[in-house]
Amino acid sequence: MVSPDSRIRRSEPRPGAPPVAAASRAGISPTELRLLALMAAARHHGVELDRNDLRFPGGQAPQPAALVDWLRSSGLWARGVTMHWKNLIGLQASGPVVLLLKNGGAALVVRVDAARDQVWTRDPAAEMDTEPVPVDAAAMTALWDGQTILLRADRGNAYDNEPFSLIWLGRLVWQDRKLMVAIFSASMMMTILTIVGMLLIWVVIDRVVTFRSYNTLGMVTLLVVVALLFEAYFGFMRRQLTLVVGRRVDGRVNLEMFRRLLGLPIDFYERNQAGSIMYRIGHIGRVRDFLTGRVLTTLLDAVTLAMVLPILYLINPTLTWITLIAAIVMVLVILSFIGTVRRVYLRYADAEMVKSTVLVESVRGIRTIKSLGLEPQRREAWDNSNAAAGGWKLELLDLANWPQTLVHPLEILMSNGILLIGVYISLQQGPDAGSIMVFMMLSGRVSQPIVGLARLMEEMEDIRNSVRMAGTVMNEPPEDARPGMGLRPRFAGAISFTKVNFSYPGAKTCALEEVSFEIPAGSSTGLVGRSGSGKSTITRLLQGINREYEGYVKIDGSDLRSINLTHLRRSFGVVLQENFLFRGTVRDNIIAGRPGLSLIDVVRAARLAGAEEFIERMPAGYDTMIEEGSPNVSGGQRQRLAIARALIHDPRILILDEATSALDPESEALVNANIARIAHGRTMLVVSHRLSSLTEMDQIIVLDHGQVMDVGPHRELVDRCPVYRQLWLQQTRYMDSQRTAAPLLAQGH
Ligand SMILES: Nc1ncnc2c1ncn2[C@@H]1O[C@H](COP(=O)(O)OP(=O)(O)OP(=O)(O)O)[C@@H](O)[C@H]1O
Ligand SMILES: [Mg+2]
Repeated sequence: MVSPDSRIRRSEPRPGAPPVAAASRAGISPTELRLLALMAAARHHGVELDRNDLRFPGGQAPQPAALVDWLRSSGLWARGVTMHWKNLIGLQASGPVVLLLKNGGAALVVRVDAARDQVWTRDPAAEMDTEPVPVDAAAMTALWDGQTILLRADRGNAYDNEPFSLIWLGRLVWQDRKLMVAIFSASMMMTILTIVGMLLIWVVIDRVVTFRSYNTLGMVTLLVVVALLFEAYFGFMRRQLTLVVGRRVDGRVNLEMFRRLLGLPIDFYERNQAGSIMYRIGHIGRVRDFLTGRVLTTLLDAVTLAMVLPILYLINPTLTWITLIAAIVMVLVILSFIGTVRRVYLRYADAEMVKSTVLVESVRGIRTIKSLGLEPQRREAWDNSNAAAGGWKLELLDLANWPQTLVHPLEILMSNGILLIGVYISLQQGPDAGSIMVFMMLSGRVSQPIVGLARLMEEMEDIRNSVRMAGTVMNEPPEDARPGMGLRPRFAGAISFTKVNFSYPGAKTCALEEVSFEIPAGSSTGLVGRSGSGKSTITRLLQGINREYEGYVKIDGSDLRSINLTHLRRSFGVVLQENFLFRGTVRDNIIAGRPGLSLIDVVRAARLAGAEEFIERMPAGYDTMIEEGSPNVSGGQRQRLAIARALIHDPRILILDEATSALDPESEALVNANIARIAHGRTMLVVSHRLSSLTEMDQIIVLDHGQVMDVGPHRELVDRCPVYRQLWLQQTRYMDSQRTAAPLLAQGH
């Protein structure tokens, strides 16, 4: 703990150099020391930092910004500061502080002792319980120029885990309250200037015209011009600030939206169509526009209202009452339609969602649609959804037309009525054309905000629906992949399932029933069974995709549920039947953004996956651009790229789920020939329908209807497991017939 009150110590060593010197003598590089210091400081707050999360260009010591990002991404509060010795000595921190030393290393300050003017530092590379040593100002300032990283457990961005709602968004906007205050001040100034301008006109009409005073006219003209300039300036500022607030809120909302999207479990994406997710997420933009647009303007108008109303009352109370009553009638007209509008709106929104799903599905599935000639059916589906959405939209607009139709004459009536009544009053009480004119001009500023308020409530329906829509995505429970949670053991790769029962949510039958088996570390295991027998389900449980199972899944004896989810998945290499290619070069796709990997690793992984040969034949080799669905990569090549991508970080456990089933016999033979090399030093779990590629596995698990039928090497299973024998015979019969028909092909050349 860093606290000014120092504990009573048994021995009082003399202050000297920080223990970093000893560490660097032990052969630890300064950069390493930096990382160790931060990891030790984070550990104090119960967070295990993962080096994979740290991004910094290699070759130089990681800079404070990168380190702070690293800490923050792991769920800590962190800040990089430059401080003097005397700030350090007065620091009241709730944990260790990391000083970044000039040589690229770091010192871990665990305690400060203001009385003796020294800090206590601990060797970052040593065990947690080593005794700290005191360091004085002279020794420390020789090594340290003030760069410091402060960190503590994050009390959480309050809005981080709150449900997505208007309040949540409002709070996001509220973070910019300083700007908001500025915007409001600008608005107030503008209102004042408007009022002043109008009062000047009053003066002109009353005094100048009556007394033919050219001097006053000159003055007033000057004042009007000045007021105009100021108003233009404040108007500019207000718009500028509003833009800034809008952009900042936008940025924050987008960040948070993406964070939540990435945090959702895979089964959410399996339950929901991409089109519908995109459509619902799109509503966030509308809510944000509403908040920084309509709500803001209405609030600003309300400021105007609050200022104009008393002045109007001073000018003429009767007219003020008339204005207010007219405005309220308008509000009532608008509000009376809200209920009906809401009902129609909900129907319209649902129809729009169906429409967008049809569109996205058609674009995504265009290959299937074209190859099966399904265009007419898709067109019909589109026509129908379009017609439905269009119908509801029309109804909605029809409905919205009513309040507008009713309110507009009221507005005209109000301004003309005020004129007529005003004239009548002035006929009775003596002529005062100026005040009536000013009143007319100002009264527009009363009805406008009040009607605006009513429209706000009307739009609220729309927005509440948008919040609900976006909420169905944003408020889904995320996976528990919180950084800093769970164990991060270094895996050897032993896997065990003990009496695992699992059924998919909503499914009637069990996908896995009393499944038990052991896979020793470093061994290779095949997983076979008919389609739907639960092979992929086993791999999904292992990756922590589905976590609501009964029984135990253990890796190296640790319960899967106690392991940090991100760490777990990073320790695996997984290749599925279909793999996504990101837009970028071949090299980028294989590295996939993992830190600290170079072209040498890429080439090694590509060679292991049997991809090297075709990559080198590509026009720009490893720098060839590819993307999802790009025609320059065939199905088999793409599969080999995926294998290389899974292998590059040298995972302890490799899962291949039908990874080679899309390959042509030649590429499959290539990968299979490499499998022995790929498997070297790791645990392999291979799901395959082609039993011939599994014969060399250490053991094969036979599944049927979610149950383990037998476990053993190929030879034993052929003899004793009927299910396996049947599968084997089916395939070899086919292969036998091939062998007689085309002996050359069987040799695999
Ligand atoms: N996401 C899911 N949601 C609901 N049920 C699922 C899901 N995935 C699989 N199932 C069901 O679980 C059972 C086992 O499926 P699994 O995908 O594990 O089979 P598999 O052995 O991998 O089959 P295949 O060889 O066809 O890939 C099947 O009955 C399947 O319908
Ligand atoms: Mg499967």
